[in-house]
Amino acid sequence: MGAGVLSGSAADPSEAPEGFHRVGGALHVDGVPLATIAGAVQTPAYVYAASTIRARYTRLARAFADVPHRIHFAVKANSNLAVLALLRELGAGVDIVSGGELYRAQQAGFGGRDVVFSGVGKTSDEIAQALDGGVLLINVESEAELTAIDAVAASRGVVAPIAIRVNPEVTVDTPHAYIKTGEKGGKFGIPRDDVTRLIEVATTLPHVTLRGLGMHLGSQIGNADPLRDALPRLVHLLGVARAAGHDIRYMDVGGGLSVPYAPGDVDADVEDYAALVRAAQAETRLALVLEPGRFLVAEAGVLLTTVLYRKHANGKDFVVTDAGMNDLIRPSLYQAYHAIEAVEAAPSRITADIVGPICESGDFFAKDRSVDDVPAGGLLVLRTAGAYGFSMASNYNSRPRAAEVLVDGDRYAVVRHRETLDDLVRLERPHPDWRTA
Ligand code: LLP
Repeated sequence: MGAGVLSGSAADPSEAPEGFHRVGGALHVDGVPLATIAGAVQTPAYVYAASTIRARYTRLARAFADVPHRIHFAVKANSNLAVLALLRELGAGVDIVSGGELYRAQQAGFGGRDVVFSGVGKTSDEIAQALDGGVLLINVESEAELTAIDAVAASRGVVAPIAIRVNPEVTVDTPHAYIKTGEKGGKFGIPRDDVTRLIEVATTLPHVTLRGLGMHLGSQIGNADPLRDALPRLVHLLGVARAAGHDIRYMDVGGGLSVPYAPGDVDADVEDYAALVRAAQAETRLALVLEPGRFLVAEAGVLLTTVLYRKHANGKDFVVTDAGMNDLIRPSLYQAYHAIEAVEAAPSRITADIVGPICESGDFFAKDRSVDDVPAGGLLVLRTAGAYGFSMASNYNSRPRAAEVLVDGDRYAVVRHRETLDDLVRLERPHPDWRTA
């Protein structure tokens, strides 16, 4: 990944800077100036760097190279088909949480065995869709769901490959309570004390076959302690499942690796993470399933936006952008920090609130932030927006969702067109087509 200012053209194209970097003050992604993309597709737009996704995937895959493992990208982080197809080319599978994500994965070329299906509320239709698609594993989150899977599999004359998602009930330190999942009392997974009983129930059901156990502790986990506490619990329960006679093959350790968002944040220590997980794998000799989302794509994306207005009120400066909380909800929902930079180097800085056009006081990207002093008409980026950016976007305030652009070397492509006004109303009818009860 390129960092810092690089200027001049490299003689060997393989030496060209990759990722987001500045050339003579102007922000580029790989070989393409962001200003060129803004001119071509307008703003707001999400822009992704294929090179960064490749680099992140390779880094994670290398750390596990000597153990049997599969990297199942958590589609919820970024579900664009072109991003999924790129990850598939790299050798990834997917972790999905809905029939919609399964459909996307299939459209991007993933086969059934590339898919693990997580989530606390799968419908019978979604379970049927997963079984018809031949998924590798359905991760079970309750006894009721276990019996539902058995019934759907029976109705289709198949045996469902399942894993039990264990809630290891460890203390997890994440930047926001909403992104913890492996703590006691949460809605996710089977409480660890109940897992043995569920393993026994699985033994009695003819249309499920228990192939693994999994867990997911939370997202943006900054240190190794929760994993260090949880892995022995998972390993112990895998032993219980094997002792009960199940043909266990997979140990799913979920996702959750952190990425740096703010100055001073440190990147996840992938080697430390891998050392811990590999030590647990060595005790079980099972194939590992990893479910990273953010780690692979967050830093590969920016939200490109135009400054609509500058405003000064009550002694305070506001920068009003054409992107809003409907485009990137993380600052509003989690008080998340995203670095904000001018696309063309700005001569000075100001302290301002960076806000969107939505009619909500919660529609802000930063408060009292020292940022580049960009006039109306200038371009800004919100960095580290490749994960949980577009995938959490909405049409709130009847705003068409932004375009998505993928850059690869010196080429770029629109991989999702900006929604049109017609898209906003396409499924609605001003004159109801009444039916009689
Ligand atoms: N596996 C499961 C079962 C998950 O629930 C998740 C994320 C992942 C894997 C991927 O986690 P990651 O590697 O991306 O941390 N919208 C929030 C994040 C919610 C994560 C939900 N589950 C955010 O913007 O921070």
